[in-house]
Amino acid sequence: MTERTQVAIVGAGPAGLLLSHLLDRAGIASIVIDARTREEIETTIRAGILEQGTVEVLSESGASDRVLSVGHRHEGIELRFEGEGHRIDFAATVGRAVWLYPQHEVLKDLVAARLAAGQDIRFGVTADAVDDVETDRPRVLATGPDGERIEIEADVVVGADGSRGVTRQAVTGAHGGYFREYPFAWFGILCEAPPSADELIYSNSPAGFALISQRSATVQRMYFQCDPDEDPERFSERELWDMLQERVPGTTLHEGPIFQRDVLRFRSFVAHRLLRGRVVLVGDAAHTVPPTGAKGMNLAVADVVLLADALRALLLEGDDRPLEAFPERALERIWKAQHFSWWMTSMLHVVPDASDFDRRRQVGELRSVVESEHGRAYLAEAYTGWSLAR
Ligand code: PHB
Repeated sequence: MTERTQVAIVGAGPAGLLLSHLLDRAGIASIVIDARTREEIETTIRAGILEQGTVEVLSESGASDRVLSVGHRHEGIELRFEGEGHRIDFAATVGRAVWLYPQHEVLKDLVAARLAAGQDIRFGVTADAVDDVETDRPRVLATGPDGERIEIEADVVVGADGSRGVTRQAVTGAHGGYFREYPFAWFGILCEAPPSADELIYSNSPAGFALISQRSATVQRMYFQCDPDEDPERFSERELWDMLQERVPGTTLHEGPIFQRDVLRFRSFVAHRLLRGRVVLVGDAAHTVPPTGAKGMNLAVADVVLLADALRALLLEGDDRPLEAFPERALERIWKAQHFSWWMTSMLHVVPDASDFDRRRQVGELRSVVESEHGRAYLAEAYTGWSLAR
């Protein structure tokens, strides 16, 4: 049996769920499917920083009010190199801020809000293919939790199924995308300890990069640069703390039991096409960024704000021009975020074969940012996020 809806959304991550929410507010129906269970979606640990514009969209649209009460407003970050910390003061430079509010909390809020509003979200439903892409009746072919075949026909299919989903392939075909790999990854830990600092510390040291982030008063998230093929179980807790501490000279880390460890490989990617016929890509399905700039989820939200407008024009007014213009408009921000994420990554990490020249040049670059009012403002503007198309 073929079901029908206005917008079929593949993927119940931040992009897919927020899109269904914004469409519903405009009176547009959607069905959201995701291969994962609700529990998997709500418990997978991902990034933690929300741009000011992301927070405004979530709170003003009624998608999450907990972000303001439970999340923590951060008015700066610290860049550390040569053993010294340099604060980038967001409030003083650009009058903006970011919020520390973990992505899985955003997802819990979004799932709860969508289910309370009667949204059709199908967990455990795997998209197998997108068909009739170039027609105005594209179809998602999927398999349900008990192996049943599901077919959803829509005016528009939105691919919000991440970098390994099937929609990317349906849109880009063999073309793929622009792509860059890095010779390092992040070793991430979650530990039970109080915060080691008031704000996030991005640290460049001769031994490599480290990021001291947070989750709550009792749980912390920290990362250090490692080999992409590192085995997360290879190190004892003592070794992990020693490696982290060595990379953040000048701050004594508060240690505690480490209850999760993972290796995050990273890459930069932008799909060659974001729209084909009536199938459109958003979020990680369209692009991925290395995590150093904290842009992943924020970029997904920016895509969705723009796409929700385009779909309102198409489905409420019969105007397809905003959808046709979506790729070009979205790509302006996507490439700015790609640049920022690449820049933060290359400025702070140590490439495995770095020469003395490379090391000294890197410190020169860091100095040119932190010692300049304009350098600090540039970083603050990008980190807190460019204004959204609203
Ligand atoms: C995190 O807390 O997981 C986090 C924070 C900032 C980043 C990346 C990850 O740039």
